[in-house]
Amino acid sequence: MTEREHLILGIESSCDETAAAVVAGGRRILSSVVASQTEIHRKYGGVVPELASREHLRQIVPVVREAVEQAHVTLRDVDAVAVTNGPGLIGALLVGVTYGKVLAQALGKPLIAVNHLEGHVHAVFLEAHAAGREPALPAVCLIVSGGHTILYDVKSASSNGVQRFTYTRIGGTRDDAAGEAYDKVARMLALGYPGGPIIDRLAPHGDAHAVRFNEPKMSGNPYDFSFSGIKTAVLYHLRRNPQLTPEIESRRQALARGERSADALRALSSPATLDLIASFQRAVVDNLVSRTFAAAEQHSVRSILVSGGVAANSELRHTFESEAARRRLEVYFPSRALSTDNAAMIAAAGHARFLSGERADLMLNAEANLPLA
Ligand code: KG4
Ligand code: ZN
Repeated sequence: MTEREHLILGIESSCDETAAAVVAGGRRILSSVVASQTEIHRKYGGVVPELASREHLRQIVPVVREAVEQAHVTLRDVDAVAVTNGPGLIGALLVGVTYGKVLAQALGKPLIAVNHLEGHVHAVFLEAHAAGREPALPAVCLIVSGGHTILYDVKSASSNGVQRFTYTRIGGTRDDAAGEAYDKVARMLALGYPGGPIIDRLAPHGDAHAVRFNEPKMSGNPYDFSFSGIKTAVLYHLRRNPQLTPEIESRRQALARGERSADALRALSSPATLDLIASFQRAVVDNLVSRTFAAAEQHSVRSILVSGGVAANSELRHTFESEAARRRLEVYFPSRALSTDNAAMIAAAGHARFLSGERADLMLNAEANLPLA
């Protein structure tokens, strides 16, 4: 560690992951611990807010302790505590915010409030730094997860000699987030929870042009998204094709027996179902990619950043990469581990705010709808 590298302890509890991490100098991850609640929410097919808060309460102390241990530091070595204060589930956020406040107060260290969405932007920079690259700004950043689908224009701004980012919202979903559409379609088809990773694995086995989904018709902002229409279209497709119902029941039974692997579910899926899955994914990916590139062109940016749980999707990555190469733009993703919720990204975002002198106090509150811009 060089002398000027500050250590930030990040804490994240906005949804269904309890996470803590220690990051040096805003870019070097010393530890990143994530306790996922997927097993708890799986049988409900989505995150149950009350269960999430309860589990955060159980996990927060051991997760922070483990992050500090894995970083080979002590809490006394930490320069500041950065905590997500929104957006997210209010009860879940409150666990992290309250714990962060108490910890910072007890240690006599500064407390930094971090917007979860800014964390997702920083996840891209963490990864790029590890790979020895740095995205050129201005950039368009697509944050695409189970809770968000939103496009920002990210610029570099210097305040007190510290490099900071500024954000302008370009567009976002008017209804469901893209990850939510993955999860809901997976639920209709009995593919298990969360739906994104399994659809990702099954889609290459189907014909992506077999089922046509209409582009959502929207007036107004051309950079807005809508995913509820495609979810309904899948439902109607299933109603029009009752021959697909028995296999849905077989998969449901397989899931109940704990058979959740992509291979097991694929063996219980007809070519027609695999075609539907592939076509659904193609439509979602095309929608995300076309609007992001249109925004990038209009804002004359130098790079494209893609972050959030759905950024782990293989087809999304390939499509972004080939389109970026065609248009001579650079596209950056976090590693799959940094794409989904984690606290290293919160510590990284907190570092820039720490350097520019921002401090939160004991009045800090959690805000379910906290905007980034
Ligand atoms: O960022 P994240 O961990 O939590 C939220 O803030 O929502 O994202 C979780 C979402 C879920 O909807 C999940 O289905 C989706 O990301 N997801 C994926 C993939 N892995 C996770 N979607 C598509 N392809 C994937 N490989
Ligand atoms: Zn997130």
